[in-house]
Amino acid sequence: MAKKRVLSGVAPSGNLTLGNYIGAISQWVKKQDEGDSENWFFVVDLHAMTVPYDPKVLKEKTIEVSMLYLACGLDPDKSNLFIQSHVPAHTELTWILNCNTPVGWLNQMIQYKEKSKKVGDENVSVGLLDYPVLQAADILLYNTDLVPVGEDQRQHVEIAREIARRFNRLYGNTFKEPKAVNPPQGARIMALDNPEEKMSKSAESKYNYIWLLDTPDDIHLKISKAVTDSGKEIVFDKDRKALFNLLTIYQSVTGVGEQVIEERFDGKGYAEFKKDLADKVVEFVAPIREKYLELEKNYDYVRDVLKRGAAKANEVAGETLKKVRTRAGLIDPM
Ligand code: TYM
Repeated sequence: MAKKRVLSGVAPSGNLTLGNYIGAISQWVKKQDEGDSENWFFVVDLHAMTVPYDPKVLKEKTIEVSMLYLACGLDPDKSNLFIQSHVPAHTELTWILNCNTPVGWLNQMIQYKEKSKKVGDENVSVGLLDYPVLQAADILLYNTDLVPVGEDQRQHVEIAREIARRFNRLYGNTFKEPKAVNPPQGARIMALDNPEEKMSKSAESKYNYIWLLDTPDDIHLKISKAVTDSGKEIVFDKDRKALFNLLTIYQSVTGVGEQVIEERFDGKGYAEFKKDLADKVVEFVAPIREKYLELEKNYDYVRDVLKRGAAKANEVAGETLKKVRTRAGLIDPM
């Protein structure tokens, strides 16, 4: 049986957070280690250009996120790792799909509405509106079966399915319809400083998120300042959103079940819980930090991984693009 194709990515638009790890990257590592899929994980630098950005920071963050993929346990012998803009088929397919996607589908997207409000009218670029089409191109180029993502990306995978379906109907069967997969818990980790908002690498305040490269002191400080509520018992109660979020983080970084966690903190207060949570998060990110610092000294290796990954991606994406060009009525280069 052909191996299932798994594909996903992170935008290098800030500091990679524990939310990105729990919602997305943890699933990638698991899938990769199960060994029964073909895996494509990439750093989506073109997506990071859709809101105002600094080119120097984009370059730095693209390398940083690539190294964090490796530091989190992605293995280039089991997963193809590459940078999105190193595979020009992504932008070329985006144009073809643009011409076959009703604009009305795009201005309905939740993330578009939220981000356009945040950046202000004069900064709403065509790219921001078009972001889901680029994402559809990313996914459809590799005949992807499964897209492991956090909850906020579900809608973008859904529109990729619709774009595929529409293209297949108009020009003949070309694309596979992908499916989004969420983790069993932690598909939406909330901000430490506001349980109504998701944890976000592009947040203005560093107290919103845990960065995977935060120092132990930072982690203790951020968790000690995290918002809680007036209740006393440490229990998984969805109505106590701030506590529920911290408990979900605890569960995700330790792998311990709900009941055991509740028993562990029976009769104890927030101070003790937060201190233990911070210790557990520090323990969890320590090996990632360590590996990252090693990789920083070994940039040639990182470059080589990304070069090999892009070569393989160009091959596979190029084949799909060739088929699409023909279906869409474009003549092969002379
Ligand atoms: P991005 O960079 O915003 O987020 C990367 C991944 O992390 C997940 N995530 C979260 N999960 C749980 N809790 C949170 N607070 C949290 N914040 C982020 C996201 O759901 C995502 O899985 N456009 C995408 C990247 C992308 C992509 C793709 C993904 C581009 N092309 C193709 C899959 C397939 C993005 O900007 O994700």
